[in-house]
Amino acid sequence: MQSTLSLSSDFHHTKDCTLFSDRLASVKPSPSMAAKAKVDALRAQGRKVIDFTIGEPDFDTAPHIIEGGINALKSGQTRYTASAGTPALRAAIVRKLERENQLSFRVEEVVVGCGAKHIIYNAFAASLNEGDEVIVPAPFWVSYPDMVALQAAKPVIVQCSEASGFKLEAAALAAAITPRTRWVILNTPNNPTGAVYTREELVAICDVLRAHPQVWLLTDEIYEHFVFNGAKHVSPLSIAPDLRDRTLLVNGLSKAYAFTGWRIGYGAGPVELVKRINLLLTQSTTCASAMSQAAAVVALDGPQDCVAEAAQLFAKRCDRVMQLIDQIPGLSCVRPDGAFYAFVNVQKLLGKLTPEGRALASDVDVMNYFIEHAQVAVIDGTSYGCPGFLRLSFATSMEEIESGFAAITEAVGACRPALGTIHA
Ligand SMILES: Cc1ncc(COP(=O)(O)O)c(C=O)c1O
Repeated sequence: MQSTLSLSSDFHHTKDCTLFSDRLASVKPSPSMAAKAKVDALRAQGRKVIDFTIGEPDFDTAPHIIEGGINALKSGQTRYTASAGTPALRAAIVRKLERENQLSFRVEEVVVGCGAKHIIYNAFAASLNEGDEVIVPAPFWVSYPDMVALQAAKPVIVQCSEASGFKLEAAALAAAITPRTRWVILNTPNNPTGAVYTREELVAICDVLRAHPQVWLLTDEIYEHFVFNGAKHVSPLSIAPDLRDRTLLVNGLSKAYAFTGWRIGYGAGPVELVKRINLLLTQSTTCASAMSQAAAVVALDGPQDCVAEAAQLFAKRCDRVMQLIDQIPGLSCVRPDGAFYAFVNVQKLLGKLTPEGRALASDVDVMNYFIEHAQVAVIDGTSYGCPGFLRLSFATSMEEIESGFAAITEAVGACRPALGTIHA
């Protein structure tokens, strides 16, 4: 019974490895995709599950953007496009970067892919050789280390402490750089912690990078529009224009425009890198969907109210989630300044016993206890390179948030101290 409820991966590498690429040996399936599949499977069995694993807005794409996609189909945009993206979309991205980030790019410096994930994957494929190193600050978005490993390169995980707000500090970066370092990844606002780097923090990081001309900077800014508590998104390139010839800015429409299923993301960077990413696209996906690209132009050039409304909604939910976490003894959370996740410290629950007498030895155990006992799905911090924490997404309705936290409160309250524990 327990195994059917476990959110941990049920993926096993086959023993007959000769049939498959050696590079897959170190690659895990995306834990967030695995969690989604598990929640879907439980619901298909008729179980009521409150899902806090969701990595996408819980509302539909705005009607005027959907209309843009439909119009594209009706006007015959049903064929392959240029592999780097339609001229119309690349121009709209150039305008967006100018308008919102005060960055000026030429169309040739922009490449469109099937999501930001696709661009990051191809950027690594275009630039990494075996044994190269990529600095990945932890907690990290689950896909970065695996995408690096798929190129036979080495993810170098740099732990960022809870006390630092889960942000990469300049000294830690400096200590991690070696002659083999090829990239540093900066994700702001951050998935899974909601950390948003300040201008000063970015200045310090860029100062370190200046001394290492062999290192590229990948800035993943996909949550840029969702910032709260007075935080502001700063695009690293805007404060370090001199790093432009070795920076790839990655963004996409998935989060800001509730556009995840349309699959549009983009990279903006030096022409030589963009050309090589495009070369890989020509031999793999050919191009992103023509209809989606047309809808993306409508999204980027059209009214931005849907983005502002989504940002307000997430800010309100963030406030409520923080209140609810504060009321549960044993849980704590560094307040997220952006994105739509709370990264909750569950270390005080470790060592306790569930009502069934099982010991909670890790965040994975707590995750499994929450789904079994409370029917609440969350993702373990271990998957994000940070044991002792859970990621809770608040990209779900306020009603689900209230009932999910009521169930978590009950589940936490039902745990007992392990035998032999001495209380003050
Ligand atoms: C930090 C981060 N980067 C990139 C992506 C990929 O987004 P997409 O491929 O949908 O554009 C995600 C999705 O969850 C993310 O959280």
